[in-house]
Amino acid sequence: MASFTALGLFILLEFINLSAANKDTCELYAAVGQSLTLPLNYNRLENSHVLKWFHNDTIILYREKGKVSIGKPADVSATGSLSLKSLLFSSAGVYEANVLNPNGTLALSWTGRLCMMDKVSKPQLTYRCDFKSSAVNLNCYVDKPQGLVFSWTLDEKTLTSETRQTLSISLAQLKGERDFSCSAANKVSTQKSDTVRPTCKSPSPSPPPLLCFTSKTVLAVVAGGAGLILLLITIIIILCCCYSCKKNQMRLKDKGGLRMLSLSKREPDSISPDYETMHPSKDSPPVAIFSFLSNFKCDIMAYLC
Ligand SMILES: *[C@@H]1O[C@H](CO)[C@@H](O)[C@H](O)[C@H]1NC(C)=O
Ligand SMILES: *[C@@H]1O[C@H](CO)[C@@H](O)[C@H](O)[C@H]1NC(C)=O
Repeated sequence: MASFTALGLFILLEFINLSAANKDTCELYAAVGQSLTLPLNYNRLENSHVLKWFHNDTIILYREKGKVSIGKPADVSATGSLSLKSLLFSSAGVYEANVLNPNGTLALSWTGRLCMMDKVSKPQLTYRCDFKSSAVNLNCYVDKPQGLVFSWTLDEKTLTSETRQTLSISLAQLKGERDFSCSAANKVSTQKSDTVRPTCKSPSPSPPPLLCFTSKTVLAVVAGGAGLILLLITIIIILCCCYSCKKNQMRLKDKGGLRMLSLSKREPDSISPDYETMHPSKDSPPVAIFSFLSNFKCDIMAYLC
């Protein structure tokens, strides 16, 4: 008993499900701006028949005894099909056609739902090289991918098993030049991407050293350079001192020699007004000290040099 009730409930639910699904599906699809013919295709249609077309229960065409009183005569075909031009989003909905016999009975009826859709925008094909899994991942990008069907072509050949928005190809398969393109399609339009030729170059094991100077390295180099310059300056100063020391020593020696010479020269003329001033006994101690100090300094310099 319980199982019968359950079965009954199941059947009822399935019935509701089916009728709901039927209500939502569309027999016809179109994009805004397109034209569309609603197919009645009644081959035995005569002028004696009454033809009516409805959109959302509003009459859009009425023809009786071959005369069209609602709608345009040019839109109706010989078999009663109705053509719709320059469709709008509001053109969606339920269309219904009725053909009545002269005696008023229904000869034929047709009902169909029209769904309006956006045209697909042109997809952008992008790719990313994944060296970890040695594959290239392609993406067929479109603004609104919901409900779209994707297809892929490789060197002009369609990859029949690939219908997703993304495609993964192993790098081994990529050998040689391979042209990829993808298409996105809905029920009213198809758009193809530009052709893309992926190139995946594995990154070199050690990147060029010029590009990887860290700030620490730069700092070390600058400090080293500054140190080197300081050392050079010090050496130059020492060398200059040495040079000037030697020059000094030479001058002192020359002076000494000269004095000795002049003294020896002046010895014969015993009476000379300069003699007293030129006498070395008074000047001797400071000159000797200076000379000693200078020599001492130069010895240190010479040692350092
Ligand atoms: C007809 O009904 C559909 C929904 O079923 C609606 O989208 C459409 O705008 C309607 N059109 C008119 C002209 O009433
Ligand atoms: C009405 O006419 C059609 C064909 O014209 C015929 O098949 C049908 O039997 C008629 N019905 C009645 C009730 O006269």
